[in-house]
Amino acid sequence: MASLPAHLANAPSDLPPNACPLPRTGQLAGLLTSIRDKNTNRGDFIFYSDRIIRLLVEEGLNHLPVVEKTVTTPTGLEYKGVGFEGKICGVSIMRAGESMEAGLRECCRAVRIGKILIQRDEETAQAKLFYAKLPDDIANRYCLLLDPMLATGGSAIKAIEVLIDHGVPQERIIFLNLVSCPEGLQAMYDVYPQVKIVTAWVDEKLNEQKYIVPGLGDFGDRYFTSN
Ligand code: PRP
Ligand code: URA
Repeated sequence: MASLPAHLANAPSDLPPNACPLPRTGQLAGLLTSIRDKNTNRGDFIFYSDRIIRLLVEEGLNHLPVVEKTVTTPTGLEYKGVGFEGKICGVSIMRAGESMEAGLRECCRAVRIGKILIQRDEETAQAKLFYAKLPDDIANRYCLLLDPMLATGGSAIKAIEVLIDHGVPQERIIFLNLVSCPEGLQAMYDVYPQVKIVTAWVDEKLNEQKYIVPGLGDFGDRYFTSN
């Protein structure tokens, strides 16, 4: 496999145990380089983000438990294989998390999707909950929680609070995320150590405005409203 420059080759070694970064391949690093570039236009930003989202969804599904399942093949023989143990649903943190719904649907055709509207205050970076609409039987499902950015962790922590209030145990939540940082991962681990975090890349840190650096700016603006 092609090797990466040393500064990109490895995720930080001291991450909390519930953090599951994607393997650092040339492909992944290249896709992220494209969406980090401030000169990337919205069409390309969407295209390359969607490709990373697909990788994240595929990896997230690897964390779901399976049980033995036997089928009969066209040769007439029984095949002792596996199938997913339980039902799943997606929950997107609006607005940016909605960008990940299509990628989830590509892999899980008729998946139910709930929505939680949480917005970070632009001045204080505090996350505020406005609205939640979730599948009625969410307590019996594994939840793939969707948000591309994990900065302070405030938004994801609030969303998980909502899921737990609706009866979802934290060990049945898998958070799918494009870009995270050590501060956000630690904040999540401190409150919800059983929630798995599948993240495409762990960046260096937060800046004074609580933006991830080097980061990619405001994901929601770049995916939904920029030029
Ligand atoms: C962004 C992002 C996360 C949150 C991350 O959303 O999509 O939800 O900020 O920051 P945090 O970890 O410090 O909470 P934002 O509130 O800007 O809204 P948007 O989805 O409409 O862009
Ligand atoms: N939200 C974003 O979209 N980007 C950041 O860096 C932090 C929060």
